[in-house]
Amino acid sequence: MSSEGPVLVIDLGAQYAQLIARRAREAHVFSEIVQHTISAEEIAAKKPGAIILSGGPKSVYEENSPKIDPNIYELGIPMLGICYGAQLMAQDLGGTVTATGRGEYGRTTLTIAGSSQLFEAWPETSTVWMSHGDSITQAPAGAVALASTPEAPVAAFADDDKRRYGVQFHPEVLHSERGQELIVHFLHELAGLAPTWTNVSIIETEVAKIRAQVGTERVLCALSGGVDSAVAAALVYKAVGQQLVCVFVDTGLMRANEGEQIEEVFRDQFHVELIHVKAADRFFDALAGVTDPERKRKIIGELFIRIFEETARDLAGAEHAPRFLVQGTLYPDVIESGSGHAANIKSHHNVGGLPEDLDFELCEPLRALFKDEVRAVGEELGLSENLVWRQPFPGPGLAVRIVGEVTRERAEILRNADAVVIEEIKKAGLYRSLWQSFAVLPAVRTVGVMGDGRTYAYPIVIRAVTSDDAMTADWARLPYDLVETIANRLINEVDGVNRVALDVTSKPPGTIEWE
Ligand code: XMP
Repeated sequence: MSSEGPVLVIDLGAQYAQLIARRAREAHVFSEIVQHTISAEEIAAKKPGAIILSGGPKSVYEENSPKIDPNIYELGIPMLGICYGAQLMAQDLGGTVTATGRGEYGRTTLTIAGSSQLFEAWPETSTVWMSHGDSITQAPAGAVALASTPEAPVAAFADDDKRRYGVQFHPEVLHSERGQELIVHFLHELAGLAPTWTNVSIIETEVAKIRAQVGTERVLCALSGGVDSAVAAALVYKAVGQQLVCVFVDTGLMRANEGEQIEEVFRDQFHVELIHVKAADRFFDALAGVTDPERKRKIIGELFIRIFEETARDLAGAEHAPRFLVQGTLYPDVIESGSGHAANIKSHHNVGGLPEDLDFELCEPLRALFKDEVRAVGEELGLSENLVWRQPFPGPGLAVRIVGEVTRERAEILRNADAVVIEEIKKAGLYRSLWQSFAVLPAVRTVGVMGDGRTYAYPIVIRAVTSDDAMTADWARLPYDLVETIANRLINEVDGVNRVALDVTSKPPGTIEWE
């Protein structure tokens, strides 16, 4: 019998819980991360089709190491324990975990010995990725030991009757050769979950939720030019059509063609009511003479909010005023808050975020989704690749890439330079693999010679980084030929530029942005 899921990933303190949840969704099964303190009744209420216990940094012998409600084992739900999760299952169910003093970190070879449905189609040996100190030395009661590695006597166990499985290695990381195959096999075959979580079903689910929430009310959405707000708006549009009204505040500090692109998609393609506030003059006036990075951020953030409030107030005076406000909150923000309630709009902490005291109810259609799902949904809804695959862009926009005073002229130089950098990076096929790639305008000018004349103009710094989460980053080793092409074009095509430098600073010690 096949069930609709979901699969619950019980977070035992692993950095991998999100990865496991994403892998389950790649197997087209909806996954939800829950804290290990969840009770068996709460789990039963969610009617899960399977449970996965994540890894974790602790030893089962440590005081305060995370445990789960033992009644969860009695619910009869298929379970897969990973790393610490497997050890916890072993310990709870009558097996043995031993602090052997010999851990195993990184790639190792798994040798299969026992027989179970878990490894049905596996060869005798394969490469897996391990990270453990303790080892399971005896499988739980009723389970068979299935495999070993040099330092893990019981690297996997299975109780086919009770559909309880444990693996010491990490199937969710790509270094484990057959890891994803294992997750897919567990979810589809052993737990019998139907692979129904697809882009189309995500859209159907979210559209139904939006309709149920907003009814016939009007909905307001602030478009930032970024991926999340665009996809959220497109979803709401699909759900309630002309009830949606979008606001795009052009600060004059956007990337090239950002405003035009928003108009093209939302006004011309979707025919959404779009209020395009052209506020560049107000931003440049407010920024005149300001060089301190934090003051720039503050000024831009406050002015953005004021303008958004003005627009919202105008709309509120209208006959059928919007009651709901769309927020592009993603699933990782929801999980990070730990409570299961949204991190009350993370963007508050960001420049470009919206004020808290606006009198709207929130509509958050991306709350259940990971970033890669948001992108896939965006493509499915007909948003262009250009928009859906945009690199992150800071709320204060180009202002934090213009060292020194932000003027209309200097913003124009940087915008033109940035467009060249992005165009060449895209042409080289590197845009998606880089976390961010852009141009920076320093506050110095240097001497150059062009044609017969002396020049005294600005340098442009090329900044390109690889990263997973922006917390740390490495400078990207762009091919020299590409750097040369970019440099030539910047000097030949962008007025006001006579020199190009490449930023080779990682984070830390540098930050990604220059301010
Ligand atoms: P840094 O420069 O601190 O940036 O390494 C890390 C990530 O955050 C983005 N960033 C911002 N985003 N408001 C934002 O919304 C800001 O004030 C801001 N400053 C930096 C930056 O682009 C990078 O992705």
